[in-house]
This record gives sequence, structure tokens and C-alpha cells, in this order.
Amino acid sequence: MASVSLHIHDVAFGGNGVGRLEGKAVFVPFTIDGEQVSARITKQKKQFAEAALEQVIAESPHRTKPECPYFGRCGGCSYQHISYEHQLELKHRQVEQALRRIGRFEEPPMQSMIPSPNHYGYRNRVTVHAENGVIGYYRREAHELIDVTLCPIAAPEVNEALAELRARKPRDGHYTLRAHPRPRVFEQTNDEVAAALAQLVARILPERQALLIDAYCGAGFFVKRLRDRFDRIVGIEWDRYAVAAARENASEIETYIEGDVDLELATHLAGADLSSTSVIIDPPATGIGPNARRALVERPPHTIIYVSCNPATMARDLSELRQQFILRSVTPLDMFPQTAEIECVAHLENATNATAGSSGF
Ligand SMILES: C[S@@+](CC[C@H](N)C(=O)[O-])C[C@H]1O[C@@H](n2cnc3c(N)ncnc32)[C@H](O)[C@@H]1O
Repeated sequence: MASVSLHIHDVAFGGNGVGRLEGKAVFVPFTIDGEQVSARITKQKKQFAEAALEQVIAESPHRTKPECPYFGRCGGCSYQHISYEHQLELKHRQVEQALRRIGRFEEPPMQSMIPSPNHYGYRNRVTVHAENGVIGYYRREAHELIDVTLCPIAAPEVNEALAELRARKPRDGHYTLRAHPRPRVFEQTNDEVAAALAQLVARILPERQALLIDAYCGAGFFVKRLRDRFDRIVGIEWDRYAVAAARENASEIETYIEGDVDLELATHLAGADLSSTSVIIDPPATGIGPNARRALVERPPHTIIYVSCNPATMARDLSELRQQFILRSVTPLDMFPQTAEIECVAHLENATNATAGSSGF
């Protein structure tokens, strides 16, 4: 298709620059807001179009040199061509936009973004794939492997593990390489930002309460740091290996339920003194299940801390929870520099308990 000239006015969640042509949004990967580019339309849809970048005609001052030789081909990173400061600005804006557009919050109570101390070399685990002697990651938008000898966003220990894996010429399959030899269960990816995340959650939660329910608790990342502050803690998680890891060093006050949060949460809220109960919700990218959302509205605890890896599903869920809760703050954290992913912490307070203060409504 023909080349078009576009002014990029924004970068959407997911990493594509956004231009406009005859009133229709055009998404162009690897472009930056403020740039003038020429691009080739690759897909025409009713509401929008997609295009491939041909040339940057007027460059953004935020454009920078990617550190990775595979950038642009590899499906992992989307932002290595953007200065780190501007990556933070974009992600902060994307969260706010999701809350406005999807969640219908007029003035979302946004807090400053918590940056990652390491912009590269931060990933404590990666999963690579081996196929017919090629070992690496999948190409952008294609089921085809790129042979990768070094991943600049991975920690040095992970790259050492990659070199060892490559040296032993593994069989076809998927290999998770880790900086720390831990149980094979969900683990926060960036140690420094994970520490900041745990501190933030601890700071927001009430000082002393009867019950903490940690829904989607994994191996107990949050719970283990909070056990002095609650009389009783219930973790809910469906991965039995994660539950086994959480139970391994559990104190008397901790109970771990191996099950689906969507089925279990209502039961555990039903028996609780809700005025002295907090709930941490850290769901996968799909967000909270419909039954769990309903349970939180019908039996609202004092406080909810919603930890999200997807601003769009978080905005949808917060919009439903607004029936019973006041949104006190939303803090984005840069757990995944150079990639389009965003971590967020939202603090909700039961509207009936809440005293005067700011609200997002
Ligand atoms: C984003 S991780 C969070 C884990 C933990 N909070 C942490 O920080 O390590 C989401 C966790 O939810 C679990 N999970 C996903 N859907 C679930 C469901 N419907 N019921 C129970 N657990 C679920 C996954 O196994 C995973 O451990």
C-alpha cells in the first residue's frame, strides 16, 4: 500500500505510536509522540489502521539508541528507542487514560511513577524457546524464533544461564532461566521494583487489623512481609506448587487455600468482620473474575489493594468496585523497563468507612 505522512501525537498502551489519517487512528510501532514519520499502511480496519514505519522525518528529542541488536525484530521490548524518562511519562499517561476512558474516572488520583533503578539487566527470569538448534525468543507478531545469544534486559546471572543452555545444545522445548534458584512458581520479575512494590503495599494497608485476604497470593510474596500486622491471614491461589511453597514456612496465623479466587473469595469474606479486613488482589492480566468482583461489592472489606499488570482490566474492575469503594490512589511502577508492560497499585477504601478526603469520583 502507499506511503503516508503522519504526525504522531501519542503512544498507546502496548507501545504503538498513534497518528491520524482522514479522522481515523493509525498505529505505527517504534514511533514517538511529536514525531513526523512516513509509514506504509499494512491493515485497514473500520475504526483504525495499522502501518509500518518507513522513515522518521522529524525526530523526537526523546529518541535514543537501543542497546539490543535484536530490538525491532524480537517480540519482547517495544521502547528501547525511547529515553527512559519519556518511557515513564508515557506509561504514567497510559494508566491515566485507561482510568478515564475505560473506568470513566474523571480525575483519577494518580501518584508519581516509581521508576526502576536498573533500566537494563533487571529481569531475574526469562523463558527462551529451542527449536531445531535455534534458541531464543519469538519474532514480533510471528511464530518464528530468533537466535538470541544475549538479552540486555536480563540480569547477568540469567545471561550466564542462557550461555550454559546454548552450550549444552538442548532438546526442542521451553526453558525458564532464573537468577535465583527458587521454586518454579510465579515470581515478581524485577527485584528492586518488587521491593518498592512490597513497601508501597505495606505503607497503604491499615496498621493493625483482624484479617488479611491475599487473593492470587502466589507463594505469599506480600503475606510473608505482613504477618505481624494481622491476627489472621488467608491466601488464595490455584497453583498447587505456589501453595506448597507458601505453606512451607507458614506461621500459625496463615492459611492457604488451593482454589479459584472467583469461587473462594465470597466464602472468606462472608465469615469476616469486614470493618477490620483488608484484601490484596494481584490477578493475572485478565483481571478479577466476575464472581470475585461481585463478592467485593456485596461484602465490601475496609481496604482493597489492587495490584495490576494490565491498566485496561484494572480500569474495568475499578469501575465496578466504585459502587462501594472510594479510589484513594493509583501508583504505576516500572517493573518492566524497555517493554510496554505496566505494573500498578490502586488503593480503595470502603465508602462507608471512609472519612473526608480526596476521591477519584
Ligand atoms: C500476578 S501473579 C501474583 C502472585 C503473587 N501475588 C506474587 O506477587 O508473587 C497471579 C497469581 O494468580 C494465580 N491465579 C491466576 N488466576 C487465578 C484464579 N482464578 N484463582 C486463583 N489463583 C489464580 C497465578 O497462579 C499466579 O500465581
